[in-house]
Amino acid sequence: MKERILVTGGTGYIGSHTVVELQNAGYEVVIIDNLSNSNADVVDNIEKVSGIRPAFEKLDCLDYAGLDAMFEKYKGIKAIIHFAASKAVGESVQKPLMYYRNNLGSLINLLELMPKHGVEGIVFSSSCTVYGQPDPENLPVTEKAPIKKAESPYGNTKQINEEIIQDTVASGAPINAILLRYFNPIGAHPTALLGELPNGVPQNLIPYLTQTAIGIREKLTVFGDDYSTPDGSCIRDFINVVDLAKAHVVAIDRILNKKQKAKVEVFNVGTGRGLSVLELIHAFEASTGVKLNYQIGPRRAGDIEQVWADPTLANTELGWKAETSIEDTLRSAWNWQLKLRERGIQ
Ligand code: WQD
Repeated sequence: MKERILVTGGTGYIGSHTVVELQNAGYEVVIIDNLSNSNADVVDNIEKVSGIRPAFEKLDCLDYAGLDAMFEKYKGIKAIIHFAASKAVGESVQKPLMYYRNNLGSLINLLELMPKHGVEGIVFSSSCTVYGQPDPENLPVTEKAPIKKAESPYGNTKQINEEIIQDTVASGAPINAILLRYFNPIGAHPTALLGELPNGVPQNLIPYLTQTAIGIREKLTVFGDDYSTPDGSCIRDFINVVDLAKAHVVAIDRILNKKQKAKVEVFNVGTGRGLSVLELIHAFEASTGVKLNYQIGPRRAGDIEQVWADPTLANTELGWKAETSIEDTLRSAWNWQLKLRERGIQ
């Protein structure tokens, strides 16, 4: 077994897929999760996929004493991948204080405890929302694009989190960090044993789309078709969740093998291709053969119009590239939805 890695939010959507890829790479994984937006049976499914059961503790990263005790229990954790956070753009507009308390407090606790427990590295789950709405000349967006005023409290927490990490490392803390700015993670594991399963009504596009396709939701509403884009709907960079998970393993390897060129490095993790919401709907129908019932509705507060990545730095510096086609990715999301119904979960 290689080193021991802590994955916070490891029963979540991206976290669970990352745990599997870490295990496939030979790492030993400890998951902590407060299960506010996931279920403990994800641990069973991770074991079914990888053949290895990760350690799991139900724990909230806001619980400082609980975190401290966890590091004592699982000695020798070498690095952390920090996913645990609230992440719905629309919801953050309605509940800003919950987002600031959860997303900032959790990270601060971890950073304070890392030196005490000899944890040398952190890979942070950041987001393209830190760019706000990039100017047209800055699309596709590179890591050098200006960080603009966040369009939502969610995006602002990600910006502040990045600054907290930068300032902590600059203060001389013995911490190395890689900030991965995700674009829009979608899809599910090819085994259909892992996927996106938010509690309650989905906030993100794909789970709402597949729940509509299978009949759980009556109709998908496209939040606006009056944007200044070719078809009027928002444009995003939809990246396969397994490809995204693999980027985290590369980042952990880079930190532990001391390959970093700076104590804090930032990478965009996207495909480099922008797709509109309407194009995605049509791609889903074409790749699955399933007709989707949708309507055009008003814009959603907090949404930006268009953003997609220039992933050149991750491609060249990390040697990582998104491999999976949008068609295969959408099929994986649909297979996951079908499997959920088969298992009587939805
Ligand atoms: C995508 C597009 C909506 C639902 C996500 C994550 C966030 C961060 C950034 C990683 C928007 C439209 C949605 C619906 C719709 N990722 N939409 N009808 O807001 O881009 O943010 O990526 O950190 O965590 O949430 O994702 O899926 O909510 O929306 O028309 O029912 O789909 O308006 O244009 P978003 P999303």
